Amino acid sequence: MKDEISRDDRVANLKGMGCSRKRVEDARFTQGKGNYVDDIKLDGMLFGDFVRSPYAHARVTNIDTSAALKVPGVLAVLTAADLAPLGLHWMPTLAGDKQMVLADGKVLFQGQEVAFVVAVDRYAAADGIDAVVVDYEELPVIVDPFESQQSDVVLREDLVALDGSIPPGAHGPRKHHNHIFTWSAGDKDPTLEVIANAEVVAEASMYYHRTHPCPLETCGCVASMDKVNGKLTLWGTFQAPHAIRTVVSLISGIEEHNIRVISPDIGGGFGNKVGAYSGYVCSVVASIVTGKPVKWIEDRMDNLMTTAFARDYHMTGKIAATPEGRITGLWCHVTADHGAFDACADPSKFPAGFMNICTGSYDIPTAFLEVDGVYTNKAPGGVSYRCSFRVTEAVYFIERMIEVLAIKLNMDAAELRRINFIRKEQFPYKAALGWEYDSGDYHTAWDKALATVDYAGLRAEQAQRVADFKAGKTRKIMGIGLSFFTEIVGAGPVKNCDILGLGMFDSCEIRIHPTGSAIARLGTISQGQGHATTFAQILASEIGLPADSITIEEGDTDTAPYGLGTYGSRSTPVAGAATAMAGRKIRAKAQMIAAWLLEVHDNDVEFDVDRFVVKGSPERFKTMKEIAFAAYNQAIPGLEPGLEAVSYYDPPNMTYPFGAYVCVMDIDVDTGVTEIRRFYALDDCGTRINPMIIEGQVHGGLTEALAVALGQEIAYDKMGNVKTGTLMDFFLPTAWEVPNYETDFTVTPSPHHPIGAKGVGESPHVGGVPCFSNAVQDAFRPFGNIHTNMPHDHWRIWQMANKLGLHG
Ligand code: CDP
Repeated sequence: MKDEISRDDRVANLKGMGCSRKRVEDARFTQGKGNYVDDIKLDGMLFGDFVRSPYAHARVTNIDTSAALKVPGVLAVLTAADLAPLGLHWMPTLAGDKQMVLADGKVLFQGQEVAFVVAVDRYAAADGIDAVVVDYEELPVIVDPFESQQSDVVLREDLVALDGSIPPGAHGPRKHHNHIFTWSAGDKDPTLEVIANAEVVAEASMYYHRTHPCPLETCGCVASMDKVNGKLTLWGTFQAPHAIRTVVSLISGIEEHNIRVISPDIGGGFGNKVGAYSGYVCSVVASIVTGKPVKWIEDRMDNLMTTAFARDYHMTGKIAATPEGRITGLWCHVTADHGAFDACADPSKFPAGFMNICTGSYDIPTAFLEVDGVYTNKAPGGVSYRCSFRVTEAVYFIERMIEVLAIKLNMDAAELRRINFIRKEQFPYKAALGWEYDSGDYHTAWDKALATVDYAGLRAEQAQRVADFKAGKTRKIMGIGLSFFTEIVGAGPVKNCDILGLGMFDSCEIRIHPTGSAIARLGTISQGQGHATTFAQILASEIGLPADSITIEEGDTDTAPYGLGTYGSRSTPVAGAATAMAGRKIRAKAQMIAAWLLEVHDNDVEFDVDRFVVKGSPERFKTMKEIAFAAYNQAIPGLEPGLEAVSYYDPPNMTYPFGAYVCVMDIDVDTGVTEIRRFYALDDCGTRINPMIIEGQVHGGLTEALAVALGQEIAYDKMGNVKTGTLMDFFLPTAWEVPNYETDFTVTPSPHHPIGAKGVGESPHVGGVPCFSNAVQDAFRPFGNIHTNMPHDHWRIWQMANKLGLHG
């Protein structure tokens, strides 16, 4: 048969990998047809909301619900006393700790859930909340993790034995009643020895402040218990719906097949929607108690004040080097403020996440990291806000240490990076703190970045600016922010990574329909990343059907195969690999069908774009569409009818995307106002599935990086009051603050991923935060700055200038 269409056109028709296919989701989203949790409205649905503690630390001596129960529309008020007989007044956290669902005797952070009011609508619930009378007895508040480790005040009385001794926690012995764990990686004594004997040692202490993912849609759920059939349906903003189903089953005793968890459209997650919240438990209990569906949706203050903070790492480092700048050792200690309960979302074996990637992109022979987790009177959480687990802290740490070392050596920071990069031929590279980096070509990326921005020209301009400033010709100084990052994404090999014992593989199930279209279901869930667009592209290239003919479905545990969800840029490295592998199973069966149809041996046909062709006879072929029809409708000897496949993929390693960023910034020393003149971002995420989506991911990640570096913060006063609990105070950048980003790339495929892809969603955040911060710090370097903590808002920058004597 003669083919009418050229091969190039056939490739283009598929819209497979490498194509900037437009997002298929957007037709819905841009026309108001999205279906978010708050869009779910069920017959007779009730609304639940919390009485929250105004105090950061207090004993709860009495809760009087009688007046609230008389408020019109209020049906029930749940307290810990109601949940206790069910064993639900405390819940397990993702980090092996336990957390109060509702205040049980005392409260440990401002905004903590005290009682759950169930009413006919949100307004009646609010009136009911006002009518609940809670008696508190204030206790001393600790918001400083260093003070906490010295204090006689016991925050977690439940974790101290009756004889006053301190039992071990989920991660080993505890040094003090407010201490959670000590976790270390690397070689302590050799590292200390290298540092003691080094010719050059640079030291710095830095605080990576507490912030919050702040997705546009807050957390929420709708629980609906069908008592007749014994089925519980739970819609929610879940980044890991299957894990939620398993946890709900384990906690409630409802068998897992009787629980259906659905994540509908999700308006951003960034880690905020990984954990389990009291709202989920209370909604389920309230639905069981009332026999009606119950909705709980956080308002913005609830979201900022009480759910899933990020960072709050106090990091101290020492970096040793030769006088020529060759790094010989790195030591890092972290005091990690985990708030009132250890609810960090990290793989079980990694209580400080992947902080042990803190040797960064550099060939550092000896290193040691130690992390102490500590309780304080702050909200629990500790999520990977647009980074793989704690990688943004690690990258910030090493990228600041490099700058501090460059100052000590009086060396150019770009050159210092270059001479210490892991070289291309060293991959796979075993880092001193344990990870095996899969692939990288850092020198090529760095040289490309520096050449593109004309780095030498920028430094010359900066030197002139310093001279002009000193001569009184300008009040604006100039900073050149550099960062080179290595991410670690795609958790992960099940042997290393589990959460609550659930192995972190992922999955894809494909069903090809007889007419040559398909549906693929995955264990992940998009929160705006465009999975419906990109995963169809992977399949289009793997199975030769157009991406436009492939529906991608995620987020319904009754239909999707089991998976661990979407966070830490794991979707492409893990579920993307499962998708390719399932596609290959389809192709293997299609090959047999094609061979039978073409009356040749299986080995005599080969795959070509959208068909199988007889080797050496390109005119003899069967398209995948024809093969799909035959799979169902022709009795093929020895083959079952149908064309379906499922793959559960346990990756052999993580993937290690990397990138080179440069930020050029002007700073007015009299106002502290920053102006980003240029931001160049080169990302290498291996094989690129959809360049347009990658660019969107980079823009979003950089914008969240700008936010964190330049102002976004969850700040507490000494009483434990949250000072930034509204969007009036919490910095959420808009188009006004965001510069024009220049994006670029190199391609270094992952050698172990079936299509060579690495994750990308988190990279720009991880690399962006140190880049923005380094730009600010670099502007003040000629005036004596060594390190100043983020966030660099205008007021703090003004203070920086003032401290350095720049106000005359
Ligand atoms: O897990 P999450 O979806 O947040 O992050 P990701 O795996 O980095 O993917 C973010 C988006 O970028 C998805 O739509 C991916 O398919 C896409 N992507 C891509 O087109 N090429 C890559 N090499 C990596 C991600």
